[in-house]
Amino acid sequence: MNITLKSPSEIATLRECGKRLAQVRTALVAAAVPGVSTGELDRIARAKIAELECVPVLSGYRPYGAKRAYPGSICVSIDNEVVHGIPSDERILEAGQVVTLDVTIGYRKLICDSAVTVIIGGKARTKEDSKLIEATRVALDKGIAAARAGATTGDIGHAIDSYIVKQGFRTIRALAGHGVGYAVHEDPYVPNQGEPGYGDELVPGMVIAIEPIVAVSTEHVDLLRDGYTYVTHDGSMSAHFEHTVVITEKGPEVLTR
Ligand code: MF3
Ligand code: CO
Ligand code: CO
Repeated sequence: MNITLKSPSEIATLRECGKRLAQVRTALVAAAVPGVSTGELDRIARAKIAELECVPVLSGYRPYGAKRAYPGSICVSIDNEVVHGIPSDERILEAGQVVTLDVTIGYRKLICDSAVTVIIGGKARTKEDSKLIEATRVALDKGIAAARAGATTGDIGHAIDSYIVKQGFRTIRALAGHGVGYAVHEDPYVPNQGEPGYGDELVPGMVIAIEPIVAVSTEHVDLLRDGYTYVTHDGSMSAHFEHTVVITEKGPEVLTR
């Protein structure tokens, strides 16, 4: 375990990175309409990231255990795809799809990470789809509220999981939040389940990505042959929201709002 604390000047840079990331995310949400390909979204992201003098750090990134470098600049995961969907000109978005846009960018050597799930075209196919997305969004707020100095990563996981289960959905076991800063994935591990008081203690200066990853009816995922895309084991829909948060004496500060 190697948790690094960020200095006030590093946090100032991360704050700027987070603001720029929010602009990229907003541009992508606006561009995610019926008929657009996920490959086109990747190009829109790359252009916006460059315009903001940031770096598409996912491009060429090799997560722990992956056999090849990531080929995209963002992750776009559709319906039963849970995370790490690879953008492609062959994937055309359709009205009603449940789509997660996950954006990770660097600015002056520091990295922020944030994701949102939207319904393409704005009109959900089922009430359950909209309820899933709303529950996952609220679960992120619950996780953030639990991210106070002196609390633990288990408190965050417990806040997320207990809310999701109450809503009748499931958090994915194998996928979690993480420390972030000089690398996309740093310590600590920030689970989406947990026991209050267990796990790593949260300390001012810690920067973490909190990211509830939720499915309608399973806790389990399968990895597709592309080596990146995780799908729900039972084919049910999935949603995912993520913010990068710094722990301060005064409470959690969201950097990617
Ligand atoms: N943004 C992802 C996360 O939230 C990381 C994607 S790594 C990739 O942790 F290689 F799959 F892109
Ligand atoms: Co992410
Ligand atoms: Co993340």
